[in-house]
Amino acid sequence: MTTLRAFLADATRAIPGPSGRPARCPPQEVWALGCHVLGRSLAQLLAADTAEPLQREDEARWRELIARRQGGEPLAYLVGHVEFWSLPLKVTPDVLVPRPETEVLVERALAVPVADGACCVDAGTGSGAIALALKKERPRAQVAACDRSPAALAIARANAAALGLDVAFWRGHWLDAIGNRSCDLVVSNPPYVESADPCLAGDGLRFEPRLALDGGADGLAAIAALIPGARRVLRPGGRLLVEHGALQGAEVRSLFERSGLADVAVHPDYAGRPRVTEGVWHG
Ligand SMILES: C[S@@+](CC[C@H](N)C(=O)[O-])C[C@H]1O[C@@H](n2cnc3c(N)ncnc32)[C@H](O)[C@@H]1O
Repeated sequence: MTTLRAFLADATRAIPGPSGRPARCPPQEVWALGCHVLGRSLAQLLAADTAEPLQREDEARWRELIARRQGGEPLAYLVGHVEFWSLPLKVTPDVLVPRPETEVLVERALAVPVADGACCVDAGTGSGAIALALKKERPRAQVAACDRSPAALAIARANAAALGLDVAFWRGHWLDAIGNRSCDLVVSNPPYVESADPCLAGDGLRFEPRLALDGGADGLAAIAALIPGARRVLRPGGRLLVEHGALQGAEVRSLFERSGLADVAVHPDYAGRPRVTEGVWHG
């Protein structure tokens, strides 16, 4: 039986990534996988006596997860959870792993002045990340979320229940899912990768749902479908905010403006790239 010290020395030694790229399972991820396998917090693992023997089945499971991570599986799927907007969220391969840059979309949505009781809809909610962040920050708002994927909605509902956040979930094609209801804010991180983009077959993304990523031939099909839906459900003065790719800002602005959305603004992410477009529907 090996010891924790010997295992860690072996598993965290420099693992060369393919063609000079960084290793896929850097030491901090080896530790994160260890916390998952051993059912301990990072603080507990860091404080553990490293002469402690490692049970054979724990060692085998830990090695298996490291190998899967080296094979490109997202860490979040391997440990089954991720943090978004400081909320712990359950994730499985049925949902996109929420990305830190989507917090820019949440920040912009929270900057929109809305009255108490206003209705906000997260279209294409996946794990529920955006809707749950909005409800956490705006407890008096009525927050709803929709998705076409029943499996994603099951995860989103489980996350809402675990966090004690009251969000209504509906299934359907974009804003058709909310029927004849009206709302004040529509927020969405839709699929926006071009169908032929080779990155869909690369590390990470190839493990995520195609429905969550593939935005059609030009990457803009979902955004083009969302805009008329938003015009239909938004009250006068209501806003649509969408996340998109860094090279899509000009095209998304044009789609918004041609659809009659006013005061269109394209906001940068933390790296200064245009990633969120916002517009007002005056009716
Ligand atoms: C990029 S993911 C975003 C997930 C989550 N909002 C986030 O930011 O982590 C896009 C989501 O849109 C959903 N979706 C794709 N096509 C849809 C459609 N036609 N109607 C409703 N939702 C759809 C996918 O199932 C997926 O959950």
